[in-house]
Amino acid sequence: MPSALPPGDPAPADGSLPASALAELGAGPISLYLHVPFCATRCGYCDFNTYTAAELGSAPGASRQAFLDAAHAELALAAGVLGERPVDTVFVGGGTPTLLAADELVGLLTAARRHFPWSDGAEVTTECNPESVDARYLDALVAGGFNRISFGMQSARGHVLRVLERTHTPGRVAEVVGWARQAGFGSVSLDLIYGTPGESLDDWRASLETALALEPDHVSAYALIVEEGTRLAVQIRRGEVPAPIDDLQAECYELADRMLSDAGLGWYELSNWSRPGHECRHNLAYWRGSAWWGVGPGAHSHAGGVRWWNVKHPRRYSAALEAGESPAAAREVLDADARRVERVLLESRLADGLPLEVLTPSEQARVPDLVARGSIELTGPDPGDGPPNRRHSNVSSPLSGNARARADTNRHAAPRLRLTLRGRLLADAVVRDLLD
Ligand SMILES: C[S@@+](CC[C@H](N)C(=O)[O-])C[C@H]1O[C@@H](n2cnc3c(N)ncnc32)[C@H](O)[C@@H]1O
Ligand code: SF4
Repeated sequence: MPSALPPGDPAPADGSLPASALAELGAGPISLYLHVPFCATRCGYCDFNTYTAAELGSAPGASRQAFLDAAHAELALAAGVLGERPVDTVFVGGGTPTLLAADELVGLLTAARRHFPWSDGAEVTTECNPESVDARYLDALVAGGFNRISFGMQSARGHVLRVLERTHTPGRVAEVVGWARQAGFGSVSLDLIYGTPGESLDDWRASLETALALEPDHVSAYALIVEEGTRLAVQIRRGEVPAPIDDLQAECYELADRMLSDAGLGWYELSNWSRPGHECRHNLAYWRGSAWWGVGPGAHSHAGGVRWWNVKHPRRYSAALEAGESPAAAREVLDADARRVERVLLESRLADGLPLEVLTPSEQARVPDLVARGSIELTGPDPGDGPPNRRHSNVSSPLSGNARARADTNRHAAPRLRLTLRGRLLADAVVRDLLD
């Protein structure tokens, strides 16, 4: 079952934003997220906002066409609220976006292009379940403007895929990556999961070796989280499947970091590694607190310190847009302190680190102790003192032109703190210890 939405303040039915949020955006760029809420079957560990055909039934409003009509309507609503501003990154996620026909997926992109001007070199990603595409499909996506693809590989071991209830075979990923390269995707990413019950360190090493043999530009490696309400959580509670082991997950993380870095993929966020220049600009936009509009059931958005999130069920989502109203369920206007705390939580995940000046005096006073414990390190302002190959790499931020140059200068002008490998293993606890 998808998890519940957070509470919040009422969101205006016309989708409008406070003048202060629009003023903060100025003429700056935005990112777009498109959430496709369909999966062929639900993997036992997943609590994403996604539905199988059996779960949706045949009720009107929950069909694929109803979703597409509503998503097109929400794009028009977004354009009306945000006005003309460039789109720097688009990310289509899910669910399984590739359950839509290629022309339906491209149709959403074409509509977004009609509503917003496009930045030069915009990054356009879709997630893809290896099961659900063939070579012709991938060709059509590239012809339609997609230039980045992220495959849900998860593991190269059949017994691990079975516990995760994944339906693809281990060999399928090599096939789809080959098709993606032939189609001309400029960046190919693989999602992996470690710490699955029954997975040994050797199994995980084999998954990393198999992934690296495919020469991906980018790898996301996530520790398996046992989400409440999933089949996996029930199986663990009943003792049918053992719970993930924290120490083994830590060893898996260290092994991933070592093998991926040795292969030329540096970490740039806790769970993400890439070849230089292939960082996911869309996700960097989230972590750097930029503006994005999330289209689709349950999608979250942020602009100028205002966060809002859509109703989760596809039927309610379509009904709102059919009635000419915003599908937002609620919103939250963050005050200055909440925004500062959020900045600490998000930017401390990045290899680029967090400027020390964002911390309050009492938080800064805790820094020496965390440095002594080996959890964080300080970098800059000495230009030679940044993350290797990152400080002056061509990481593209969600900002563009002068704004990006200004932000980059600022990012490196002041001392910054960054998690060490040890700190990354305990990131949540380290940041909790740091914050007032
Ligand atoms: C929306 S899915 C990716 C696209 C596609 N639906 C698929 O699974 O192939 C995004 C990624 O989130 C990760 N994920 C989902 N649930 C997770 C969990 N409970 N623990 C860790 N990672 C999870 C998986 O690696 C998955 O590839
Ligand atoms: S295919 Fe992806 S989104 Fe769908 S249930 Fe599995 S992990 Fe979740």
